[in-house]
Parts: sequence; structure tokens; C-alpha cells
Amino acid sequence: MSGILNKLITFEGVDGCGKSTQLSRAAAWLRGLDKEVVTTFEPGDTPLGKEIRKLLLAGDFVPVPEAELLLFLADRAQHVRELIQPALKSGAWVLCDRYSDSTLAYQLAARKLGDGAANLQEMLDFAECGVRPVLTLWFDVPVDEAMRRMKKRAKAGETATRLDDEAVSFHERVSAAFKQQYHDEPEQMLRIDAAQGMDAVEKQVKRVLKHRFGMSA
Ligand SMILES: Nc1ncnc2c1ncn2[C@@H]1O[C@H](COP(=O)(O)OP(=O)(O)OP(=O)(O)O)[C@@H](O)[C@H]1O
Ligand SMILES: [Mg+2]
Repeated sequence: MSGILNKLITFEGVDGCGKSTQLSRAAAWLRGLDKEVVTTFEPGDTPLGKEIRKLLLAGDFVPVPEAELLLFLADRAQHVRELIQPALKSGAWVLCDRYSDSTLAYQLAARKLGDGAANLQEMLDFAECGVRPVLTLWFDVPVDEAMRRMKKRAKAGETATRLDDEAVSFHERVSAAFKQQYHDEPEQMLRIDAAQGMDAVEKQVKRVLKHRFGMSA
């Protein structure tokens, strides 16, 4: 990454917190300001990643937690090398829907891989080729509200993934892990109150980006 301006911003939070909604709004806003923007997501935003995503989320297989972690990391490595690094090199802002914090929240905390994955940070560094976000937005919303939103989305026809269907206790562990990460890294991870309506959340995102990067609107 040396010599490359880091413009990677990651969007994190529990399933249904509004990441994808806000990522596409932020991208539209930045493009309106004449910024070059690449939007991307995990898992599955490369041709190989698409296949890994199917293995992970379609529900045909239930990987053991260790295999699940390694598949997510394989997707990460492919994603970083094939898409994120070239986009950063080209000078674009890269808005990424989920990244390392999701691995820490889902695979380490919620799957309780804590002991077995003592070297997870090293594994992350390896898979990510050292590419770290300049900023992470954490969309904080109570799990029950996020679940309500997911139910509404499912009713509107969107298929749930294997992880969406996990027990409430799983999503609670994910949520607690994000909160912990926020407390551990308040400079790196900014909290967005995602329980508010979509427009109010969008305003917060813009405010944070303007404040951090001096973007004028
Ligand atoms: N602030 C909000 N208030 C109410 N509903 C919202 C809000 N933000 C998003 N939604 C709705 O909630 C649902 C989930 O939002 P979205 O898909 O953006 O979440 P997500 O965090 O990307 O979820 P996932 O992790 O499952 O991909 C969508 O139907 C969306 O329209
Ligand atoms: Mg999403």
C-alpha cells in the first residue's frame, strides 16, 4: 500500500442494519461531488468470490467454523488483490460492504473461535495483504430492529442467507462484538446511529465524511 492514498471506507454492522442502503447513498453523493467511487461487498464480489459466497451462504453446506473462517479469508484475499488494491491504486474511493470487522464479529466472536484462532489478526493481515480501511462506519442498531427490517425485506422477496437465519443469540454476539471493536478503536471506527430513519442516517454519514475528509457538498 505504500505510495497509495488510502481511500478505503468499510461499512459494518449486524445483518439488516442498513449498510447496503447507506453505502449506495454515500456512493451516489460522492459521485455527485465528482469523486471516483468503487463500491464493493463481501463475500462474493469477484468471479471466484461469487462461488465462495455460494458455498458459504446458500445453505447447501454447513461448514465447520474453522472452514467458514478460511473460506471468508479466501474471499477476502481474492477481493483485495483483484478489486480493492487496483481500485485504490487508480485513486478511487472504495466503499466496501463488510470487511475485517465482520470476520472478527461473526467468525471470532459469534462462532466462538476465540481460542482456536489466536492468530486471527495475523491471518487477517495475510489475507488482506495489509490493506486496512482508513475509516470504518459502524451502523449501530438494536438486533430486534435489524431483524424486523430483515423480515420486511424477506417479505419484499429477497432471499435470506444461511447467516441471516442464525438464532437471535448469534446476532446478539455479533452486535456485542461490533460494540467492543468500537470501544477498542474509537478513532478507526465511527458509530452511526442506524436506528433512525434512512434519511437521518444518511445525514450522519455525510456529516462524518465531511468532517473526516473535508468533502464539501
Ligand atoms: N434506517 C432505516 N430505517 C428503516 N428501514 C431501513 C433503514 N435502513 C435500511 N432499511 C431497510 O432495512 C432493510 C435492510 O437494509 P439493508 O439491506 O441496507 O441492510 P444491510 O445492513 O445491508 O443488511 P445485510 O447485512 O443483510 O446485507 C432493507 O429493506 C432496507 O430498505
Ligand atoms: Mg447488505
